[in-house]
Amino acid sequence: MHRMPIVVGNWKMNKSPREAVDFVGELVGRVRDFDSVEKAVAPTSLALPGVSRTLQGTQLLVAAQNAHWEAAGAFTGQVSADMLRGLAQFVILGHSEARAYLAETDANVNRKAKAVLAAGMQPIIAVGESLAQNEAGETIDFVRGQVSAALDGISADDMARVVIAYEPIWAIGTGKSATSEQADSTIGAALRDTLRELYDDNIADNTRIQYGGSVKPGNMAEFMAQPNIDGALVGGASLNVHDFAALVEIAATVKGS
Ligand code: 13P
Repeated sequence: MHRMPIVVGNWKMNKSPREAVDFVGELVGRVRDFDSVEKAVAPTSLALPGVSRTLQGTQLLVAAQNAHWEAAGAFTGQVSADMLRGLAQFVILGHSEARAYLAETDANVNRKAKAVLAAGMQPIIAVGESLAQNEAGETIDFVRGQVSAALDGISADDMARVVIAYEPIWAIGTGKSATSEQADSTIGAALRDTLRELYDDNIADNTRIQYGGSVKPGNMAEFMAQPNIDGALVGGASLNVHDFAALVEIAATVKGS
């Protein structure tokens, strides 16, 4: 079994279209040598056309930060999965910020994941517990519930294109990452075991699962050394070219081939 490591920079609401294009123009050369790692940037939707044009034919891939499940319609402020065709290879869904500020629900994450798959892209489904849930010992049950709901009705074949990101909410943007052992054991117990129950050993063992939450060059190696962790979904550190390139290099060194 080999799971290709995947490092994705989630820029959130940062970088204008011009800044995003300039950034990837610089980043692409710096990550070119690390073939054993899949890597992508997730700029704002406004920057997707420019970034995808700049990266055409390169191995630096593009992710959108969200997508609506309907192809078109009266959904002010939304971008459909259909509209992202050709602009992104991945779409982040269920991010805790979307859950907290945009009332994202498990049911809608599921509809969106199906729309993204139908449009030929790969969903990156983000899950993770709050500090209160973590302290109450509810992490495993909560995260299992999120994953089961998000994957409801998704076929075993389509699972080959699904990436899951475990991002404990209390570790996002706080500088306080989970320990690598904590993250690894939650990913094993809450995520791979759920995949084993919902599907089979093959899918549990082959689905790529990232860790996210205050990942930076200084702690990346520890996370990458964990057997259940296949890469990182990175916020803050992905906004800096040197840091982003370092994260990809570390993933290649620790996990590569
Ligand atoms: P930080 O890396 O800034 O903690 O953000 C993590 C995240 O939310 C990535 O999606």
